[in-house]
Amino acid sequence: MEPAEAARYWEANAETWTRHVRAGYDGYRDKLNTPAFLALLPPVTGLSGLDIGCGEGENTRHLARIGARITGIDVAPTFIRYAQAAEDREPLGIHYRGADAHELPFADNSFDFAVAFMSLMDMPDQRRALCEAARVLRPGGFLQFSILHPCFAPPYRRVLREKDGAVRAIELARYFDACDGEIETWWFSTLPEVERAATEPFRIPRFHRTLSSWVEILLQAGFRLEAMAEPSASAELAAAEPILADTRVAPLFLHVRARKA
Ligand SMILES: C[S@@+](CC[C@H](N)C(=O)[O-])C[C@H]1O[C@@H](n2cnc3c(N)ncnc32)[C@H](O)[C@@H]1O
Repeated sequence: MEPAEAARYWEANAETWTRHVRAGYDGYRDKLNTPAFLALLPPVTGLSGLDIGCGEGENTRHLARIGARITGIDVAPTFIRYAQAAEDREPLGIHYRGADAHELPFADNSFDFAVAFMSLMDMPDQRRALCEAARVLRPGGFLQFSILHPCFAPPYRRVLREKDGAVRAIELARYFDACDGEIETWWFSTLPEVERAATEPFRIPRFHRTLSSWVEILLQAGFRLEAMAEPSASAELAAAEPILADTRVAPLFLHVRARKA
């Protein structure tokens, strides 16, 4: 799939996605993934950063609140419009811009750091996107990103639960399948039935890569691997938010930090 076609899918999802995440239906993001990502992040106060695939800007705003001078880019104009509207309501000094991560509209060595929260696995040419991220970082700058876990969230993952709802196991398949723009159709798991009945599901092109492919393109882009994490809900969090309990059996997300040599 070409980047322009993938971008059209994201634009088509953006209106509903914004409404649903802002209503709190992405429990994985808000309760587990973003807190773990921020816990892994080195201090960014006073640093200039780029948020690649910023969506409606919730995570971009977290970075601004902890002191980063941040620019957010996204390929879907509707996301940028919502992110900018939030910035207009509560100014945090964030600059938003519509742009494709495959072709970043910034000069070489422009940023101290870059982040990509759950966006790189949605891009058709991750090699190009990572080379672009490396290009706009200053030497010694870092990129931290989260993706669906290549090993434990390949194109097929099914959570098997006991009758009482406890997670028994996770069934996986298709780790080695070439997956270039296969459309995945889903809602956020906690979306109420009434909303489900009234809303078209997301249609998201998926570009799955094996773990070794990710490491290979990261190194080829000129990065040095620095840290990795696999967020897992604590027993207390899983009890409070049962939907997250699968991450105690096998992780759903992989976090990676890499530094431009
Ligand atoms: C799963 S959403 C995550 C949004 C946001 N980072 C968050 O964590 O809430 C993936 C985002 O990546 C964006 N995206 C996908 N392909 C892109 C590309 N080629 N360039 C820039 N953004 C892209 C989508 O429009 C979408 O906003």
